Amino acid sequence: MYRTHTCGELRLSNVGTEVTLAGWVQRSRKMGSIVFVDLRDRYGITQLAFNDGINAELCEQASHLGREFVVQATGTVSERESKNKNIATGDIEIIVSKLTVLNASDTPPFTIEENSDGGDDLRMKYRYLDLRRECVRRNLELRHKFAFEVRRYLDEHGFLEVETPVLVNSTPEGARDFVVPSRMNPGQFYALPQSPQTLKQLLMVSGFDRYFQIVKCFRDEDLRADRQPEFTQIDCEMSFVEQEDIIQMFEGMSRHLFKTIKGIDVPEFPRMTWADAMKYYGSDKPDTRFDMRFVELMDVMKGYGFGVFDGAAYIGGICAKGAATYTRKQLDQLTEFVKRPQIGAKGMVYARIEADGSVKSSVDKFYPQEALQKLKTAMNAEAGDLILILSGDDAMRVRKQLCELRLEMGTQLGLRDKNKYSCLWVIDFPMYEWSDEEQRLMAMHHPFTSPKPEDIPLLDTDPAAVRANAYDMVINGVEVGGGSIRIHDAKLQQKIFEILGFTPEQAQAKFGFLMNAFKFGAPPHGGLAYGLDRFVSLFAGLDSIRDCIAFPKNNQGRDVMLGAPGVIDQKQLDELEISVKTQA
Ligand code: AMO
Repeated sequence: MYRTHTCGELRLSNVGTEVTLAGWVQRSRKMGSIVFVDLRDRYGITQLAFNDGINAELCEQASHLGREFVVQATGTVSERESKNKNIATGDIEIIVSKLTVLNASDTPPFTIEENSDGGDDLRMKYRYLDLRRECVRRNLELRHKFAFEVRRYLDEHGFLEVETPVLVNSTPEGARDFVVPSRMNPGQFYALPQSPQTLKQLLMVSGFDRYFQIVKCFRDEDLRADRQPEFTQIDCEMSFVEQEDIIQMFEGMSRHLFKTIKGIDVPEFPRMTWADAMKYYGSDKPDTRFDMRFVELMDVMKGYGFGVFDGAAYIGGICAKGAATYTRKQLDQLTEFVKRPQIGAKGMVYARIEADGSVKSSVDKFYPQEALQKLKTAMNAEAGDLILILSGDDAMRVRKQLCELRLEMGTQLGLRDKNKYSCLWVIDFPMYEWSDEEQRLMAMHHPFTSPKPEDIPLLDTDPAAVRANAYDMVINGVEVGGGSIRIHDAKLQQKIFEILGFTPEQAQAKFGFLMNAFKFGAPPHGGLAYGLDRFVSLFAGLDSIRDCIAFPKNNQGRDVMLGAPGVIDQKQLDELEISVKTQA
């Protein structure tokens, strides 16, 4: 037997027991005639003690142990003289009587401790060592528990986990596909699924009326902190349901997860229409941990001869409570922040509410105090508050800029506490959005989403105004999941493809399998998918989803540990009948 206990479980109640532990040497130190070794495994750290006076040979052996050596130690559990309150095993130590080195280790490239000295790249290159760090391991433990509780909840509610294939067909409309060449079908390619969307709909046609799958999805898109090229969805679909049934079922699942994993009772999720989310927060995933809603100021600020506002298509402000203390320098920094190319505002107007209630603004020369008092009333501002205003000739663009400013102020004022959770549903998304790149309407969610029945007549007259039976679950400004009620009528589906610019032949070629299936008794159905990585990151309080993925890709989509993607042999290329252009 390699070990009788783990490095995380011995306590004062075990004093006097003979035990054998196995693990990695976190560090060793010599204090007078005693060598102390911190032995680590997945469960914790236990201190080993080697006393020169008791066994000089063993003590000498221990003093040569390097970091990350794998050792086995047998000894007696003893109460420590100086206790360590920071670790669970801090009251005891093992007086070692036998030590076996199971494996030596090279000196690791960074310290394997909570605060590692290794930079991001180095830790990713040696990710298997990074994963030995408790803080990283804890995230994976949380992920395991999360997935386990998802399965428990869905199983209890009659959902069946069904696997769908990973080698599928390229589908238009989504992000870019990752493709895989087929050796047996030269010149042809599989695509990796961006999600199992159409397959889960086919399962509904098959009668599996409650499906789920914890499934890898692949999207070749630009990467950000909340995006990985391969990520995991909790993908779900139900038959004979309306939007309300889905919302109830999955709000219930989220509540179950908050309760079992975080011990938090979350109240009923409020619902906000997409139109309101855009109007008040400039985002379809508003961070509702704090208020600071937008106030439209067209009536209040126009007509005073300030050209920037007089010519604007939209003027909007936010009120930062208690921020009138912001210095000129801080305000200049905020102006620089909104003027960065990523945000693109032309400038920012501010107004402070002084202690006596008067308003002092950066555009005082255009606005008499009386006008500024109207601004104060419109913004519901009080003494000590700071009003920030943006404007421009494209209302949607200004709202997005104001959204960035609002989030920045929320961060600066400490209103975005990671331990506080604010959940909501955003509903009534538009069916379509205009794509400048494609110069046509594109499906906002995906082309299988059903329009709201009352908006169906608009499909012929004003498709851009049609709302969808689509919903997103948003927590702390993160879109953790989204879905819709689907079209189950082949004719309506055909019409939607037409509006998206597919000829009947193209639609048949790409989606014939689905439309044909709909001819054989497709039940009404709908569903949603959560981003597991995003949900877990929120629970773990992480800034990037990478930290809850065992072997993530970097921002260039590379796995620096595996060296993937990489070149392949000419032989493999020949078999696939692929020629690769090499750069001169
Ligand atoms: P959608 O495209 O909204 O919907 O994806 C569902 C959820 O998956 C997560 N997500 C991602 N997570 C990490 N990295 C990515 N690159 C990434 N892309 C998406 C998000 C998102 O809310 N088939 C539909 C769902 C449905 O209609 O049932 C779908 O895939 O958290």
